[in-house]
Amino acid sequence: MVSKTFLMVKPDGVQRQIIGDIISRFERKGLQLVGAKLMRVTTELAEEHYKEHKGKPFYENLIQFITSGPVFAMVWQGENVVDITRKLIGKTNPKDAEPGTIRGDYCLYVSKNIIHGSDSEESAVREISLFFNEDEILEYNKDIDVWIY
Ligand code: PPS
Repeated sequence: MVSKTFLMVKPDGVQRQIIGDIISRFERKGLQLVGAKLMRVTTELAEEHYKEHKGKPFYENLIQFITSGPVFAMVWQGENVVDITRKLIGKTNPKDAEPGTIRGDYCLYVSKNIIHGSDSEESAVREISLFFNEDEILEYNKDIDVWIY
């Protein structure tokens, strides 16, 4: 079933100028970008987004990191998009991430692992609504959008 997920290039990925490379990987797979913006994450938004991790040893570091510079927030759409994007992103810790995945190819440290992806359909719905207003998410329509082939 076609669904949506929330992906975010973290401050390290933005600073390393690999947003384009990352987008290419998802496009090549056949997924559709339906929302995107470069933005700063406020502490309030970061705490809400990562609230399930409050109290964990890495929590403060994670909040500090995600608010430390611009991020590139995205909504992607496609068949099994949550599972597919998690596979393309790779394991959370880059030392376990397979070559060919984003984390396997681009980073070394779990504290700077380039990209976030929703881990379930429920998380995706929650995270999309945290970062995007409804009018910031577009739908492609093959009947009227003649530039789609
Ligand atoms: S857990 O405890 O298994 O639920 O945590 P995990 O899914 O591995 O990671 C949750 C998010 O925290 C990030 N993370 C870290 N950030 C900074 N420093 C350290 N040491 C660290 N360890 C984990 C991890 O990348 C997850 O963030 P997202 O944005 O979902 O990738």
